[in-house]
Amino acid sequence: MIIFLVGFMGSGKTTIGRKLASKLNFRFIDLDEQFEWEEATSIAKYFQQHGEEKFRKRESEVLKTTNYPDNCIVSTGGGLPCFFDNMEWMKAHGKVVYIQHNPKTLAQRLEHGKEERPLLHGKTMDELVEFITEKLAEREKYYIQATIVADGLSLTTDYLKDIVLGC
Ligand code: S3P
Repeated sequence: MIIFLVGFMGSGKTTIGRKLASKLNFRFIDLDEQFEWEEATSIAKYFQQHGEEKFRKRESEVLKTTNYPDNCIVSTGGGLPCFFDNMEWMKAHGKVVYIQHNPKTLAQRLEHGKEERPLLHGKTMDELVEFITEKLAEREKYYIQATIVADGLSLTTDYLKDIVLGC
């Protein structure tokens, strides 16, 4: 079984994914890390050198060419489900869980990690909230196509484990 975790930057995909994988005794794959390993550079540098369009193409290729073990939890980049046929592809190959948060919570969670994320780099707190509100409104229509929509604030790994095993 492959479980893809999707959601906006800062929604906790990687942290939750690692915990869930260890609870279920599944392997954990972080597609951002896989991208950086394949390209031998950071996503921030890749964006700077090649721009967003090329990043989206390579990100989609990484999704579709990674060798997934039988049982694994995969955390995905925040934009990945919103480009090409990536959401359909994930649903055809596994279950997709959307970790849903509101823009204010996301802005608070991202305040410290924003400099490593090219889309957030250099933004003040107000600009961050505005940006997230707009981007999330664009992206939710993709995110909510997930197999399961889970409320990020009340989410526990035990709850996720149960819904993942039950679906
Ligand atoms: C992005 C999210 C990032 C990373 C890249 C672009 C986005 O991943 O893929 O910086 O467009 O939302 P995380 O969601 O893991 O931070």
